[in-house]
Amino acid sequence: MTSSMDAILQVTDKTKLPQHVGIIMDGNGRWAQAKGKERVQGHYAGAKRVKPILKLAKRLKIKYLSVYAFSIENWLRPSFEVSFIMNLIKDYLQELRQEMIDEGVFFNFMGRRENLSKAVIKEIELTKEATKNNNTITLNLCINYGGRAELADAFKAMLQNNVKPEDVTEELISKYLYCPEVPDADLIIRTGGDMRVSNFLLWRSAYSELYFTETYWPDFSDEEFCDAVWSFMNRERRFGKTGDQVKKK
Ligand code: FPP
Repeated sequence: MTSSMDAILQVTDKTKLPQHVGIIMDGNGRWAQAKGKERVQGHYAGAKRVKPILKLAKRLKIKYLSVYAFSIENWLRPSFEVSFIMNLIKDYLQELRQEMIDEGVFFNFMGRRENLSKAVIKEIELTKEATKNNNTITLNLCINYGGRAELADAFKAMLQNNVKPEDVTEELISKYLYCPEVPDADLIIRTGGDMRVSNFLLWRSAYSELYFTETYWPDFSDEEFCDAVWSFMNRERRFGKTGDQVKKK
């Protein structure tokens, strides 16, 4: 039996691949609790899964990977957990910077800077600077991110730039999003069993294919990532057209 990874690698038409994959990394707390551990140990284990999934995405020739590391709503968690995740993000960036440089990863930050500590912002800036000439794959780390906040920030910037109402188009709004060069998300994966988008990439997910799995994020394997991508590659995306119109293309 061919694995989904083999099947993906055998496809020669690379336009069939999702160009941009977003991941809602849910289930860290439950993963830890099921093992009798503290919730934060789930975040630690979850952070460790990001590197292999990034490497795999690169190998599959996916161009953009967006990972939801901390939402605006996550500030409501117990302060110990918030500090733990922030430290994890800082350590993660420090630890993986050289590897991102070597692997040709272009690093982006998506989210609001306000409320992030100077230490986290420093690591973000250093990593952005160190990877700015890379282009093999883009990693968008979503921290203090909310899809509605991203739109509110876009509209605010448009008003500040005196954009006229008659000039407001979907294309223009896209240009005011965080990291405007990042295209729409083709595929959004959510681990941990819940079936919702939780304010992730709202504008860019208008036509995303969604893949939900019960697997907790720390257990989300390379095989399952390939299953998600393969499932995407076998779906018919109609973008409002009929199935017949799409097949004739
Ligand atoms: C959701 O699981 C996960 C988060 C709120 C944080 C995700 C953070 C990481 C994976 C670590 C940081 C990432 C990097 C790249 C350094 P949950 O806690 O809501 O799980 P639960 O639903 O089981 O409680």
